[in-house]
Amino acid sequence: VKEQTLATVFLEELRDIYDAERQITRALPKMVKGASSEELRDAFQTHLEETKRQIERLDSVFESIDQKARGKKCEAMQGLLGEGEELIEQHEQGPVLDAALIAGAQKVEHYEIAAYGTLCTWGKTLGYTDAVGFLKENLSEEKMADEKLTEVAAGINTEATVGA
Ligand SMILES: [Fe+2]
Repeated sequence: VKEQTLATVFLEELRDIYDAERQITRALPKMVKGASSEELRDAFQTHLEETKRQIERLDSVFESIDQKARGKKCEAMQGLLGEGEELIEQHEQGPVLDAALIAGAQKVEHYEIAAYGTLCTWGKTLGYTDAVGFLKENLSEEKMADEKLTEVAAGINTEATVGA
């Protein structure tokens, strides 16, 4: 068993979210295609651009702690995104699929919020001041993305009910 310190779990968690973000950039274009609501498509598209910038910030985080930027396969994200793909395969396009896609996307956001929250707290304890700055930016973008989805969902859920 190798020695584990807060610094080593920080690095493991960082590699996990790095891989998760990269998986998200591959999944979001499919979600844009699957969504019918223009507002939802825009929200996914905007978050794709944000996610690309978040990966760049993570590159800076690795750099700030003198580590090579490298991901470690995030099984949880693969599962969450796989469920989203399944939704697209199994439902016709429309407000019901949109509502389900939002639910899936919010699970993804909450995973990220948890990961960034932890990294910010650990980074602070470890004295990684520069890293925490970048991580906080990602954390607040994820929170805003989550709120945006809640907002978009309000209209879509009504439509999904009426359509039934
Ligand atoms: Fe993200």
